[in-house]
Amino acid sequence: MANGNGTYHDDAPPSAQPRARTPVQDLDVPPPELPRRRQVANTPEPPPVRASPSVSARLRALPPARGELRIGIIGTGIMAGAHADNFLKQQGCRLSACLDIDPAAAKAFSAKHRIEHVAKDLQDLIERSDAIAIVTPDASHAAYAIAALRSNRHVLCEKPLTSTLAEARQVAKAAREAQARGVVGMVNFSYRCASAMSHAAWMFGQGRIGELRHVSAQYMQGWLCETHEPSGGALWRMRRATGGGVLADLGCHLLDMVTGIVGDVKRVHCTFGNFPKVAKDGSPLTRWQGKPLDADDTALMTLEFAKGGMGILQVSRWASGRSNTIKVDVHGTRGALVFDLDHSYDQVHHHDVASKRWNTERPAPAPSGWQRFVDAVRGGRHEQPDLIRGAQIQAYLDACSRSAQNGCWQEVEGWE
Ligand SMILES: NC(=O)c1ccc[n+]([C@@H]2O[C@H](COP(=O)([O-])OP(=O)(O)OC[C@H]3O[C@@H](n4cnc5c(N)ncnc54)[C@H](O)[C@@H]3O)[C@@H](O)[C@H]2O)c1
Repeated sequence: MANGNGTYHDDAPPSAQPRARTPVQDLDVPPPELPRRRQVANTPEPPPVRASPSVSARLRALPPARGELRIGIIGTGIMAGAHADNFLKQQGCRLSACLDIDPAAAKAFSAKHRIEHVAKDLQDLIERSDAIAIVTPDASHAAYAIAALRSNRHVLCEKPLTSTLAEARQVAKAAREAQARGVVGMVNFSYRCASAMSHAAWMFGQGRIGELRHVSAQYMQGWLCETHEPSGGALWRMRRATGGGVLADLGCHLLDMVTGIVGDVKRVHCTFGNFPKVAKDGSPLTRWQGKPLDADDTALMTLEFAKGGMGILQVSRWASGRSNTIKVDVHGTRGALVFDLDHSYDQVHHHDVASKRWNTERPAPAPSGWQRFVDAVRGGRHEQPDLIRGAQIQAYLDACSRSAQNGCWQEVEGWE
């Protein structure tokens, strides 16, 4: 049974049915000095959706998709490659169209991944797709997601769902309405492929650690310790307008994992850091494409959970020696749950206070987000993490940003 946090606290362990795992480790690690093919600064609004009679005429309550599933991909950058590769691994999926604000990029992407059609606009892509993957920079997710949902297209949207809570609420509303028509909407919180998380959520739901007291969790990368090419690399992630900072980029994964295990957050306190970056020639690097590197590169969050207990979450790009470290420790009155994805995606260490013993549980590997999405579409059923869950995480990010700005504890606002 879904517990409202996008995980399952049921009688049977969630990983009782072993399934093949698609390796998606380190997807959020930017290749630091790879020249970026295209710029994402000043990303214009997505193309407007034309009110096309042909599309409204196609609106229908969707039956489970039994035959071929036509996948359209919006955004043809680094992460879109993972979408293309992983959708092709799902039975009956065909890459039918792609769309990018940069037509040359879309053309190259379609050639590389043998995609039949480069869409001329969103309407064109919608008409050629049953399901749409949104893999553009965060600020453009909302408009694409709402347009696709309203056209009854299943949606797998990249994380974080949006760049503001207001947009996230609009997507959640459209997702609720579309869900009633049989449309599947999910967010690609890719570390859901770690069965450690769903198994820890199940163990927590079983009362294995008693009452929640303390959580400490971290998502650590170290690539900012290196020097950078002023023109490229992953510096777009250091601009608020394009990347949104480390809180949004990595914090959304960590918040999804932690609250997926222990439940909702009541209020937060958060501090941001933004440290000087250095160019390859040793000079200070303060701007990218003429704009200041103004986004947070470190975020320290203190959380109060709805179920009681407190948590400290850290995300940083300055963790020298760390490539993509994710660790979660959950402590309660009767025990602890600990996992470290550097060590294993599929192990949870459990401490039992009464016996004073540590044991390791090894759940079966979890399916990838792409597999869960396609299974949900084919099965005509709802699956987590859905777009409403994405909006919930956005509400946490929003409270953290408010707190970082005004230095005070902030209540989490509603996301629907
Ligand atoms: N789930 C994960 O582990 C993971 C990992 C990496 C990135 N991501 C997410 O994927 C998304 C894309 O990240 P990326 O690293 O691939 O970025 P990227 O810069 O490599 O690619 C973005 C692409 O979108 C295109 N684009 C920009 N604005 C557009 C618009 N309005 N309409 C259409 N196309 C547009 C760009 O031209 C570019 O081709 C982001 O939301 C990011 O947070 C998720």
